[in-house]
Amino acid sequence: MSEAQKRFAGGVLAVTGGGSGVGEGLARHAASLGMAVAIADIDLDAATTVADELVRAGGKALARKMDVRDLGAMEAFADEVYAELGPVTLAINNAGIEQFGYVWDVPEDNWHRLMNINVTGVFNGVKAFVPRMQRAGVPARIWNLSSMGGVSVGPRQAPYIVSQGSVHVGSRGGRGRLRPGRGRGLLSADAPGDGRRRHGDARRAAPYAQCAAAHDRRLRRERLIVHA
Ligand SMILES: NC(=O)c1ccc[n+]([C@@H]2O[C@H](COP(=O)([O-])OP(=O)(O)OC[C@H]3O[C@@H](n4cnc5c(N)ncnc54)[C@H](O)[C@@H]3O)[C@@H](O)[C@H]2O)c1
Repeated sequence: MSEAQKRFAGGVLAVTGGGSGVGEGLARHAASLGMAVAIADIDLDAATTVADELVRAGGKALARKMDVRDLGAMEAFADEVYAELGPVTLAINNAGIEQFGYVWDVPEDNWHRLMNINVTGVFNGVKAFVPRMQRAGVPARIWNLSSMGGVSVGPRQAPYIVSQGSVHVGSRGGRGRLRPGRGRGLLSADAPGDGRRRHGDARRAAPYAQCAAAHDRRLRRERLIVHA
């Protein structure tokens, strides 16, 4: 049994934006380690396709339509996951979008949409899952996906950089109350690839394993362990 299996097998993953890209890769990889997987995505067809495949392969999975901008929907998703799959041992706030452009060129609506998904969406996930993890009393982790963009300066990627920096710094702030995880995250450790993003049609072409691999090489995660 691999170190990753020892750590994650038998647990429950709840992942946002798990219908495609990095989230899909994480969902599939978690299932391969023996986790039950709950996928929330604004694109229900994509989430259902992934969940159905995992079930056909002998795993436990469910898919729900959910917009991370909606706290009520996030809470309802969390309740359903706990009721149907058991205590969540890993929640990943993965759903996020990208927006290019200098700050002064970005349409106001686009700015708010990106902040609402990338920042408020993570806030909603933390707010919904951390108290439930604390109440459940079993070891649990929450990961908020940021990006190298969250710790770098990219003038033509301004909204994205601001949002990912917020997630990065905000997650670090949570460490005062939650115990920080130690060492490398193991969930995606053995997935090879280059982590290409799946924008438009091109997104569909990227194998999930490649996206999962992006976590090790290019993504910044904050791991906060609620119960050690
Ligand atoms: N792919 C990379 O190289 C890379 C690099 C750094 C950071 N990231 C981060 O990883 C995360 C995922 O990126 P990706 O490349 O897989 O993106 P993606 O566009 O391939 O997938 C994002 C998923 O989130 C879903 N989604 C979008 N808006 C949503 C909403 N409001 N509510 C619920 N679901 C929603 C989409 O339907 C999609 O399934 C993002 O937070 C991104 O910033 C990715």
